[in-house]
Amino acid sequence: GVTRHYNFNIRMKNVTRLCQSKSIVTVNGKFPGPRIIAREGDRLVIKVVNHVSNNISIHWHGIRQLRSGWADGPAYITQCPIQTGQSYVYNFTIIGQTGTLWYHAHVSWIRATLYGPIVILPRRNTSYPFVKPYKEVPIIFGEWWNNDTEAVINQAIQTGAGPNNSDAYTINGFPGSLYNNCSSPKETFRLKVKPGKTYLLRIINAALNDELFFKITNHTFTIVDADASYVKPFETDTIYITPGQTSNVLLKTKKLKSNSRFMMAARPYSTAAAGTFDNTTVAGVLEYVMSDKNTKTFSNTSIKGLPLPPLPAINATSYVANWTNKFRSLGSSQFPVNVPQTVQKHFFFVVGLGNDPCPKNQTCQGPNGTKFAASINNISFTLPTTALLQAQYFGKSNGVFSNSFPSTPLNPFNYTGTPPNNTMVSHGTKVVLLPYNTTVELVIQGTNILGAENHPLHLHGFNFYVVGQGTGNFNSTTDPANFNLVDPVERNTVGVPSGGWVAVRFRADNPGVWFMHCHIEIHLSWGLRMAWAVMDGKLPNQKLLPPPSDLPKC
Ligand code: C2O
Repeated sequence: GVTRHYNFNIRMKNVTRLCQSKSIVTVNGKFPGPRIIAREGDRLVIKVVNHVSNNISIHWHGIRQLRSGWADGPAYITQCPIQTGQSYVYNFTIIGQTGTLWYHAHVSWIRATLYGPIVILPRRNTSYPFVKPYKEVPIIFGEWWNNDTEAVINQAIQTGAGPNNSDAYTINGFPGSLYNNCSSPKETFRLKVKPGKTYLLRIINAALNDELFFKITNHTFTIVDADASYVKPFETDTIYITPGQTSNVLLKTKKLKSNSRFMMAARPYSTAAAGTFDNTTVAGVLEYVMSDKNTKTFSNTSIKGLPLPPLPAINATSYVANWTNKFRSLGSSQFPVNVPQTVQKHFFFVVGLGNDPCPKNQTCQGPNGTKFAASINNISFTLPTTALLQAQYFGKSNGVFSNSFPSTPLNPFNYTGTPPNNTMVSHGTKVVLLPYNTTVELVIQGTNILGAENHPLHLHGFNFYVVGQGTGNFNSTTDPANFNLVDPVERNTVGVPSGGWVAVRFRADNPGVWFMHCHIEIHLSWGLRMAWAVMDGKLPNQKLLPPPSDLPKC
């Protein structure tokens, strides 16, 4: 591979959306951020300079970061954030991954506007295990707030209530112009295509808080990859994607003879009570253009009559369950499946919402006057004031974190039945310590308590294999017999259904401290997060590399 250098200057930029101009945190003044392009095997050297008043850190979501945990990015986990006026060089190699990943800020809610695509092409002189696309296009879903998102999260934390909804969903930074009174056709995403060609759409869900459905009228997709791992291709007309997930899909355009347009649309999926979510639709236009010269912009009225693609209902649970079941690793001789066949350590994590008492002299607007919280095995993870990885590496974990994260819930209950009387969480900075190369099986159980919400769980530093899933309570006697140990999908983010479970396996072959959390930003903020501390192996190439000299200080 080669080394590719990028300069990321983090700057404020005025951007107008929904009739309002707003100053947002950007990379190089771009929203969404610039595209990173590399080939598998390349080294990326990205210098991030912080010119804004917020603390900054950037996570390269899904990149394995083999032995390079210092470049992973989550604030207070692998690094202290980059302070105003400071810089940090993220330096890592892409090993064994091809597809689409993305980067985003990983401190507070800065990722609302600081995100962009990472395009990983196959090694030189190798090709995709599918038809060569005519063109490749990133499709990034996001959310747009008219208000300052730092104010939104600060207010939510203070009042203990759920945060305000975003004002629009976006496609590549654009809210659809038809579904609010206040935007121009310029604010609508258009995908210009030619007839009879195959396009590779690199789909990313960068939305903060919502799982999404996506569809284009009268078109179908072929899914070829998930989270930068190839899957057995399958056809669908509707895509479902959780925050944090990515997917490469092929779109074959029709053999049309004249210019024409089709609407595309995305809208949330949620099992929670309707109304608590922003259930608006974002629309874009798929535009067939016969000649490159025909680039006239269209007006709102010219697309107003076009039918929107019919999307599943907001609570289409069975659609989502079936969808998740369709994913299988490609499992070819070139791309083998390495799912651990035996397991050394078993974990059972219960993920869900809960609450905290309201502090004296404060009025809280959460459930029954309490504050919302979220936890894993009832522990709401407290971020330390220094970075866990540094504490671990320099042998200074005392007083920063403990290795006592419980491998099973301390107070089991019926997770999918009537909620227990007491849904208060406890707090702590606790990790699981894993010897190098441990094979891990983790069952993640969703609950029915409080919000009854889904949790897209994301693991840093690894891909895991999704070996099983189901509804209701996980049954450790009967369910493992049905695990798929042949061709399970390999991912970095998996949707844990409320009132259901998911089982994953991975090999702890990457020394470092690795964050695992719900990729719904409000759940992350409420504490649905923990970390795995993976020890060095014996051989020199099984050890975490030494920290870079410019590693930020807290
Ligand atoms: Cu994309 Cu820790 O997250």
